[in-house]
Amino acid sequence: MSSKRTAVITGSASGMGAATAARLRADGWRVIGIDLDGAEISADLGTPHGRDTAIESVATLVDGSIDALVTWAGLGGFPGRAGSLVASVNYFGTIALLEGLRPFLANGTEPSAVAIASNSMTCMPGVPLEVTEACLAGDEAAARMAADASGSVTAYPATKLAITRWCRNQAPGLDWAGVGIRLNVLAPGAVETPLLAATKADPLLGPLFEGFPVPIGRNGSADELAGTVAFLLGPDARFLVGSVLVVDGGTEAQLRADDLPSPWNP
Ligand code: NAI
Repeated sequence: MSSKRTAVITGSASGMGAATAARLRADGWRVIGIDLDGAEISADLGTPHGRDTAIESVATLVDGSIDALVTWAGLGGFPGRAGSLVASVNYFGTIALLEGLRPFLANGTEPSAVAIASNSMTCMPGVPLEVTEACLAGDEAAARMAADASGSVTAYPATKLAITRWCRNQAPGLDWAGVGIRLNVLAPGAVETPLLAATKADPLLGPLFEGFPVPIGRNGSADELAGTVAFLLGPDARFLVGSVLVVDGGTEAQLRADDLPSPWNP
């Protein structure tokens, strides 16, 4: 059997998922990608059947264990896209993979998972919390209905907030930190990928996006975020558990300087 460490990466066919797959392979990992197409495993994470297929396919490719999971697969919010689709792919697709592959991580070596959120959850006004709450209740039908009502543009940050809250609740618990699996959240800002290109090209979102500040003076690159994931999966991050790493060139710091972190004054 190979001595390589094994990482499962969803959304590995494009953007930051593809950059992460390339980076980890260059670092000596065995990578099993999952995407609609163009990956080791083809599966639609927007459906329960696709999620089951993805998990069962991983099981056939490994010997009961994996060492890392990174859930890059996701859809942006666009005026012409149903909120329900974004809720199903972004939240339920992510959580199903985290839950379904957790037992494999538990058998891994220094195992670690990185869930992907977005700085939109703290930097976009008007997040519909009813979407977040329905997600966290595990009620996909209710989350889809609420997301359709809000529209995908605002449902998007609501799903990313739900991913983050799920991870913050789970990461310190017996199923994760308790068995030595480090679960952390990465929240990118504006990063040059096909998803961002589509946002910039949208007649409604494009002009709004141009007004979004990135204090460092440029957008991020997919390779930079792949580097952040490599760090989160590696030995220098051994003490990171339940952390939310915002990697956005300073956007959140500029927009929410005094709001976050939020002090505990019971
Ligand atoms: P991308 O569009 O280049 O890649 C996303 C990948 O997810 C694609 O390969 C796509 O096929 C896959 N995917 C979509 N729906 C799927 C489904 N139903 N089943 C399986 N795979 C599916 O996008 P990018 O920018 O690399 O985004 C990756 C993640 O990072 C997403 O979760 C996104 O929300 C998040 N993000 C992106 C930001 C950006 O500025 N690009 C900012 C913050 C977060």
